[in-house]
Parts: sequence; structure tokens; C-alpha cells
Amino acid sequence: MTQLPGLLDTEAIRKDFPILDRQVHDGRKLVYLDNAATSQKPRQVLDALGEYYERYNANVHRGVHVLAEEATALYEGARDKVAEFVNAPSRDEVIFTKNASESLNLVANMLGWADEPYRVDHETEIVITEMEHHSNIVPWQLLAQRTGAKLKWFGLTDDGRLDLSNIDEVITEKTKIVSFVLVSNILGTVNPVEAIVRRAQEVGALVCVDASQAAPHMPLDVQALQADFVAFTGHKMCGPTGIGVLWGRQELLEDLPPFLGGGEMIETVSMSSSTYAPAPHKFEAGTPPIAQAVGLGAAIDYLSGIGMDKILAHEHAITEYAVKRLLEVPDLRIIGPATAEDRGAAISFTLGDIHPHDVGQVLDEQGIAVRVGHHCARPVCLRYGIPATTRASFYLYSTPADIDALVDGLEHVRNFFG
Ligand code: ALA
Repeated sequence: MTQLPGLLDTEAIRKDFPILDRQVHDGRKLVYLDNAATSQKPRQVLDALGEYYERYNANVHRGVHVLAEEATALYEGARDKVAEFVNAPSRDEVIFTKNASESLNLVANMLGWADEPYRVDHETEIVITEMEHHSNIVPWQLLAQRTGAKLKWFGLTDDGRLDLSNIDEVITEKTKIVSFVLVSNILGTVNPVEAIVRRAQEVGALVCVDASQAAPHMPLDVQALQADFVAFTGHKMCGPTGIGVLWGRQELLEDLPPFLGGGEMIETVSMSSSTYAPAPHKFEAGTPPIAQAVGLGAAIDYLSGIGMDKILAHEHAITEYAVKRLLEVPDLRIIGPATAEDRGAAISFTLGDIHPHDVGQVLDEQGIAVRVGHHCARPVCLRYGIPATTRASFYLYSTPADIDALVDGLEHVRNFFG
């Protein structure tokens, strides 16, 4: 078996993930390489979800009975865990949403309805990048359409990185918000946060970072990032679906208006007006995703128990091995950095002129799960003149043997299509 420096004890880790023992297509071993779409869940998270519903289920913040108090303590305890995980200065800066898309939409709507100095209007500009997931494009397009603000973006270099050569023209005195992805879900690129934040701060623009593909894979420190908002989702980091996070700087959360109205987010309500609860509750209308937050808390315990720095080192070793092995496959072109440096654990590629959907299907027949398509980042495919890519993405339980299986599978694809 291939041994690489920095690898985790995957034999032990994989025992925590029952689904990884599955066989598919008449006894083929599952090789799960679609972790950028969603990660698998360890037994510890599955148990926390089961235990929550078996012992504690109640609505939060409202009841005086014991179950309501216990459920509230678990839900708010999950907020503490998230705050510590991202090094937030205050737990009140952690807003639970249903996913990263909702977190990003929340920021766009906060700014759209805000008063000065935050308001986005027809005299202001919004800056994103060409490598964003649709969830960090469409909310800003909607905001620009509604307010008349101008939407601008950074383009991409041929090797899949942000082209910041015109940073001073893209981010200007008119820029109100710069929103960009920390690690691209399609290219795998890790973006230079510091340079972008520095320029945004020079012109007094707010910064929003989509950390959906970063939070599961590397230590995330919102204070070190120096952003104003950071969004991520639970299901890509061993947690359940239906839970996302928006971290925001406290003074902004105090000043900015809520987006969704309803129960839980108010202080008082009369027939003519309402006042709002302090953040984070101001932004959490209605019954929140309680069990999902508890599950996310268990996922954070699990990942922290292993250590995010160790997970990063493991994935770096796996990615380095994968880049090397994939480049041995004839006609394979990596879309994005063809190196393991400054890149995350998702690798997109094309294979000659074989359509990625065909690649994905023949791999699936061999038990290998990858994602094919535009990965909700269609402008990237347009930029590189391709209809779609095949994407293999790794996690803490991925092994060199998984990469070998992928490379063998791709050989089979090439033979299959002659
Ligand atoms: N955003 C997820 C992906 O990249 C769904 O696959």
C-alpha cells in the first residue's frame, strides 16, 4: 500500500463512517470521491442526531419545561462550539442558517435593506469573482437588479487563479462589498485573502468570504481572515444537511436590519410595529434547525478531536499524490492549478473529448463516485471553453488506494471509449 508523509490513520478513521463499507453495483467497493458535494457522516454525528430526537426533542427558547431547557442548552451549546471552531470573538456573532447559500443571501439582503453607511444602491458597486459558486453570484445579481448597483468581478488566469492585476480598478471608492470564495469548489484554488482584504479596507468596503470548501478542510480563523462576514455549511464538514453558518462582526450585526421576520427574532410586536431581539436571534426567524445544529456541534467535536491542521496535512498529501497520478493519465487536463500548492482537495479535469457525464457514468459502474457537470460554477466552464468537468474531491478518510482506483477507473474509461 502506498504510504505518504502526513497521512492520518485512515484505517481507524474509516471505521467511524459506516457508509464507507458499502458496496455498490453488485459487490463493488464504494470509492467515495464526491466530498466537495457533501461529506459522509461519522457514527458520532449519527448518534448525536439519534440521541437528540430520542431524549431531548423540544422547541428552543420558548418552553419552561425540562426538555425545552435541555434542547435550548444543546442548540446554544452548538453555537459555542462553532464560535470556538472559527475563533469568533463572540458567540453572538454566529448565526445559524440552513446552508451557505442562505448565509450569503442573508448578507446580500442585509445590505440591500440597510441604511447608510452600508446600503447598496445605484451609486455603489458590488465585487465578486468569476470562480464563485452560483450561491455567491445570484444573490448579488438579484441585489444589483433591485438596487441598480453595478456588479463587477475579478477574472481568472489560464491556470485557474484569480487575476488580481487590475485590483485597484475592480475595487474602487464606490465598492460597498467584496464577496469571494476562499477555496473554489470547482478549481480547488485557495485564494489570496490578504491582498483582497487589504484593498477592500483601503476603500472602506465590507468583505464577505465563502468558506464552504475551507471550513471542512483547514483551520478557519475569522479574526485572522479580517473579513466582515464568513459563510459555510455543515453538511460538507461531517455534519447533517440543513444547517449553515454565517459569522458576522458584532457591530455590523447590531446595525444591519433582519431579512426574515417571524417568531424568535423579535423583542416586542404590536399590530403597527415590532422591535427586534439582539443578534444572532434577530437573524434566526422561526423554529431553527435544532437537531441539525446539534449534529454540527458533534461534527465539530469530531473534527477538532482529530485536529484541523492534521486534516489539512492529510488532504495535502492525498492531493499531491492525486495531481501526480492524474497527470500520468493520457489526455487528462486539470482545470485549475495543476499543482498541490495553494489548492484544496477538489480536482476538476477533462479527459480528451469524452464527455464528463460519460466519464462519471463509467466510473460509477466501477463503484467510484465523482461529480460531473458545471458544479454550480458555470462561468468557470465558460471561461475555459468546456461544457463541464469531472471532479474528484477528497476528505480525511480518503486514501492513496482511492486515488489508484480512480486512475485505474479512468484507464478503463479511455479503453471503453476507444
Ligand atoms: N456546492 C456543492 C458542490 O460543489 C454542491 O458540489
